[in-house]
Amino acid sequence: MIACKRFLYIVTFSLVVIGRAGATGRGAELHMKKTTFGKMPDGQAIDLYTLTNRNGMEVTITNYGGRVVSLLAPDRAGKVADVVLGFDDLSGYLAENPYFGALVGRYANRIANGEFSLDGVEYHVPRNDGPNALHGGIRGFDKRVWTAHDVTKENPSLELTYLSKDGEEGYPGNLSVKVIYTLTDANELQIDYTATTDKDTVLNLTNHSYFNLAGQGNGNILKHQLMINADRFTPINSTLIPIGELRPVDGTPFDFRKPAAIGARINDENEQLKFGKGYDHNFAVNHQDARLVLAARVTDPESGRVMEVLTTQPGVQLYTGNFLDGTIHGKAGKIYGYRSALCLETQHFPNSPNQPNFPSAELKPGQTFQETTTYRFPATH
Ligand code: GLA
Repeated sequence: MIACKRFLYIVTFSLVVIGRAGATGRGAELHMKKTTFGKMPDGQAIDLYTLTNRNGMEVTITNYGGRVVSLLAPDRAGKVADVVLGFDDLSGYLAENPYFGALVGRYANRIANGEFSLDGVEYHVPRNDGPNALHGGIRGFDKRVWTAHDVTKENPSLELTYLSKDGEEGYPGNLSVKVIYTLTDANELQIDYTATTDKDTVLNLTNHSYFNLAGQGNGNILKHQLMINADRFTPINSTLIPIGELRPVDGTPFDFRKPAAIGARINDENEQLKFGKGYDHNFAVNHQDARLVLAARVTDPESGRVMEVLTTQPGVQLYTGNFLDGTIHGKAGKIYGYRSALCLETQHFPNSPNQPNFPSAELKPGQTFQETTTYRFPATH
């Protein structure tokens, strides 16, 4: 282990970009550091990129699955903690894990029975979640090696690209995907997604980070206060497929329009909560237009850490770690127990290819898919 760390240290090199001195008045240097993260079974080297902003906030991202590996966020006293679940090195990610930090595609979330039709052709994609397709299939974007480029300008930015070939995991069209992670001086991790195709296809791209604002592995998230800017959610059947309805949250445990503790109603007698084993539902974000809107805000009353989620996407999946059961040991040996993290996956609605009344998830040649999501960690002190 020690020898391995030393090796990592030796191969480390830094790309130092002089930040715009006037931008923050601090005139600090911006760094994007690239280190070795591990090797794929076929020997391909995988990297870890460290993005640091002028406040000293740090995010690490690997080109394996485009995964956010760590994210240091300040509490009310300015003390940082790593607020995302994950692993210390690549081997953890290569083992079975529920999409920790990953870029998910080609179709994030579920497609009923792994079937959909496009232009009169029926497509079948792998059913990897009971009867349904989940998160892009057996080997989705979360398990692919992305090509990374440092595209730092005013802020540290990492560009990740991936070409999903026609027919990969059953989806039509060569889909060229570009994701840019940028860390701003407002403590925002901004994620810009673009994609183009050469055949009609469907797509749904998200990031699947698991957050615990008390610090990864530090208890459950039931006392976190959550606000979701959504008047309606998409109720599901017992296999977690939306039934097609947009149901008002009013008077239900899904009303987070005013902040409420995640745990306050999670065990209520409620069919929807029973189906999800807790919250595992898509909310229709209140959008006036396609611009970035505040979709959710989470606060940890104890540490004072805050996370705001802004997005251009029509939906956000609230998943409260209901399938975590303490069997996964993550960073620093932390045990990831039941409901020890929450995900706020901004997205198109699940099963949109089979629901004509949901916002379309189709992409045609000549069109450019474009969405932005920002996770913001304001300093509260
Ligand atoms: C998503 C799904 C959940 C679960 C997790 C991964 O959030 O909606 O049901 O599959 O991913 O475990």
